[in-house]
Amino acid sequence: MRVVWATDIHLNFLNAEERASFFSSIRDHQPDAVFVTGDIAEAPSLQPLLDEMRRAIHVPLYFVLGNHDFYYGSILQVRNSLKNWCQIQPGLIYLSMTELVQLTPSTVLVGHDGWGDGRYGNYYASPVRLSDQELIADFQDLDREAVLNKLHALGDEAASYLRERLDNTLASYQHVICLTHVPPFKEACWYQGKMGNDDWLPFFACQAVGEVLLNVSRERPDCHITVLCGHTHHAGIVQLRPNLRVITGFAEYGAPCIQDTFELEELFCQSDFLKGRDGREARSV
Ligand SMILES: [Fe+2]
Ligand SMILES: [Fe+2]
Repeated sequence: MRVVWATDIHLNFLNAEERASFFSSIRDHQPDAVFVTGDIAEAPSLQPLLDEMRRAIHVPLYFVLGNHDFYYGSILQVRNSLKNWCQIQPGLIYLSMTELVQLTPSTVLVGHDGWGDGRYGNYYASPVRLSDQELIADFQDLDREAVLNKLHALGDEAASYLRERLDNTLASYQHVICLTHVPPFKEACWYQGKMGNDDWLPFFACQAVGEVLLNVSRERPDCHITVLCGHTHHAGIVQLRPNLRVITGFAEYGAPCIQDTFELEELFCQSDFLKGRDGREARSV
């Protein structure tokens, strides 16, 4: 099975011609499936642009959403309307609102949007204010403490969703691919080849999801977990445990790119685990 992975494609910044050119570059790789790890568009443009992409690529599109996908909307409303809409759209699979997807008899796909859950770094000392707080209804009119509580709750929601699904995979699969928007470890929160600092980490890593992944990887040492994520727009690979690695994708506004094209077997090839492709930084924890 051949997969094209892209992240943070922010299609709303492109005109129709630029989008068609990006979709055509995906088709050139002749994938059997496409993975997208969030920041696809913004709430008002999300469904039309997903529909356009689905029609252009001709293969199933498995995706999660990123924070930008909720801009000018609310989180629950966007997720629920997308869930209902995807049920009648062949080939559009929103992983935050679906059951496990078996890709091969030994490989399963899970995913959730995730959220920067405010737990890494130093939230109270950070001068960082993401546009999320003005542009997503859930955050409007919240004070600083209430925002942090909301970030915790969003991270916990992602973690329990994944925990429940991963529990079901433990007995049956050797390989797990997990798509999420927000890096689940501070070590996977890349910025110019280094880890994001304490000002950015509260918003750019989801500790709650990371804990679930670490626990699962300990409980099933023979099961290999690969996490694909984005959000920081800076690429890197980190090996957290022998059977757990996180690949963070690069992105640039207005210039979406294909992060990687791989055969599923290749993704789980041990010898390839720490090789940074295309100059991607790699580190082992
Ligand atoms: Fe992004
Ligand atoms: Fe993002």
